[in-house]
Amino acid sequence: MRLAVSDAADQITGGRAVPEEKKPVIVAKNLTVGYKLHRERKLLTALRDITITINKGEFVCLLGPSGCGKSTFINAISGIVLPWEGSMEVDGKPVTGPGPDRAMVFQDYALMPWRTVESNIRMPFEFQNLGLSKAEIDERIAHYLDLVDLTGFEKSYPYELSGGMRQRVGIARALVTEPKILLADEPFAAIDAMTRESMQSELEQFVSKTKQTVVFITHSIDEAIILGDRIAVISRRPGRIKEVIDIDLPRLRFDSDVKSLPEYSEMRERIWDLVKDEARSGAHGEE
Ligand SMILES: Nc1ncnc2c1ncn2[C@@H]1O[C@H](COP(=O)(O)OP(=O)(O)OP(=O)(O)O)[C@@H](O)[C@H]1O
Ligand SMILES: [Mg+2]
Repeated sequence: MRLAVSDAADQITGGRAVPEEKKPVIVAKNLTVGYKLHRERKLLTALRDITITINKGEFVCLLGPSGCGKSTFINAISGIVLPWEGSMEVDGKPVTGPGPDRAMVFQDYALMPWRTVESNIRMPFEFQNLGLSKAEIDERIAHYLDLVDLTGFEKSYPYELSGGMRQRVGIARALVTEPKILLADEPFAAIDAMTRESMQSELEQFVSKTKQTVVFITHSIDEAIILGDRIAVISRRPGRIKEVIDIDLPRLRFDSDVKSLPEYSEMRERIWDLVKDEARSGAHGEE
């Protein structure tokens, strides 16, 4: 498999060598962000005072009750929403809008029904000029079709695919530009349990090779523990970071059967307590 990231950026900060994997990539500082509700003529604060640094190659999972601002957080990384207060920086620069360094996998696939699998995966190249020739683009598409195990389905339309296959098209479309940062919004939520496990395993293997930085939203504690280097538990809206938990379990976790380790159950229980408290404390926070 071809590796996605070859970042020759300067690794020296303040006269000290910073290991590449410890280089901050996503830095939110006291980030407060929300939406203008035009009908109600008011502002809704989705996230308040979020401070977190995500390093290169890290896999960070976000857990929290519905409506707490998880999607808003990855929208702020992708530049779809901009800070009201505080800041959001990617690679040392304030985020002012979307860019080819960040790609999103959407919960609802967001495929174009009138386009074939191949043409859906080709889409990002129509919006971004990455300086690749037609032959290079074709080669990339073939590579990522193969990676998500959809070779042979190039000419199929989304309605001809299963839910899991559609989501794999969404994943290939996000990976095909080889973005430094992968933003995944509950990508496996609508996939059956067996396919979901195999896709978790594939994703874990894939990012361990590409060393991409991943921010991954899920409602599943098990999925977060299996995939994450860290889990950020978000409180109910307006979302704040309640706790960030390091997951120091060996990788690859699927192969090492981590679920049978006592540390796994302890971690699961601890995270469940945090999440449960938030779910119990009511669906509506302050405005
Ligand atoms: N485009 C929008 N316009 C107005 N309000 C929005 C918009 N998107 C989200 N919100 C509001 O912001 C708050 C946070 O929403 P967000 O989608 O970030 O939550 P979430 O944690 O991703 O929830 P879920 O787990 O249900 O996906 C919610 O109250 C939601 O109604
Ligand atoms: Mg969401």
